[in-house]
Amino acid sequence: MGTSIYAAESERLWLQCLSEEHLEGYHAIQSNPLAMMWSQNLPEASLEETLQHLRERQPTPEQPWNQRWAILLKGSEGKDGEEGGKEGKPKMIGIIGIVREQEIGYKLHPDYWGKGYMSEALKTMLGMFWASEGEMFLPDFVRWDSVNCVPANKKYNELKAYADPENKASVNVLTKAGFRKSILLKNRHSRAYLGKGVMSDLQGFYLFRPGTENMY
Ligand SMILES: CC(C)(COP(=O)(O)OP(=O)(O)OC[C@H]1O[C@@H](n2cnc3c(N)ncnc32)[C@H](O)[C@@H]1OP(=O)(O)O)[C@@H](O)C(=O)NCCC(=O)NCCS
Repeated sequence: MGTSIYAAESERLWLQCLSEEHLEGYHAIQSNPLAMMWSQNLPEASLEETLQHLRERQPTPEQPWNQRWAILLKGSEGKDGEEGGKEGKPKMIGIIGIVREQEIGYKLHPDYWGKGYMSEALKTMLGMFWASEGEMFLPDFVRWDSVNCVPANKKYNELKAYADPENKASVNVLTKAGFRKSILLKNRHSRAYLGKGVMSDLQGFYLFRPGTENMY
């Protein structure tokens, strides 16, 4: 089998390990007020700020789970200055990854909301994540031959997620992917978009590795 620069693919998307080559696409998302409206952080003001965060969001020996994948749109390869990705590369439309140990997070550029892209990306990422156990749960869309950056996820039989209950789009994305509600944390989350002193609720979610649910 040959190798691929992508970690996984679905019908419309590629997932690629986040690296500095994604800086501009990542900044377009992290600097967008709508994309950041549920975040505890303000939109990022400069490429330098995004670069610093990008470098912090990489796996290390201490935090091998600290991984992000750029969500790239297939068929969007364009020339510089045109709509689409630069220099023939597919356009980065979102980000998905492990934001804290065993906890997933994601964000899509608002230009691409409501088209099912995050549902597709999450399904793809989960297939890749669970597949790192071995080939037992390897779905068709995961390119196991690829240069991908899945660490040893063997020890994880459960993933978690948190969403503001008012963030209906995110709640729907998680529910559609099979996540179930766990605890509702009241007044737990400070959203920069709402200003200081306003606390929002957080709904917890969990998802078991396929085939392990009956172990609990
Ligand atoms: C949350 C987010 C990733 C959703 O991405 P998306 O690609 O637009 O989501 P999808 O198109 O896959 O939609 C998933 C489901 O939610 C529904 N949905 C989408 N937007 C919705 C909205 N604003 N209100 C209610 N439902 C919505 C869709 O209809 C779909 O359900 P369906 O298939 O039954 O129709 C995107 O809105 C986003 O990046 N928001 C800002 C960052 C963020 O909130 N991150 C998550 C923090 S927990």
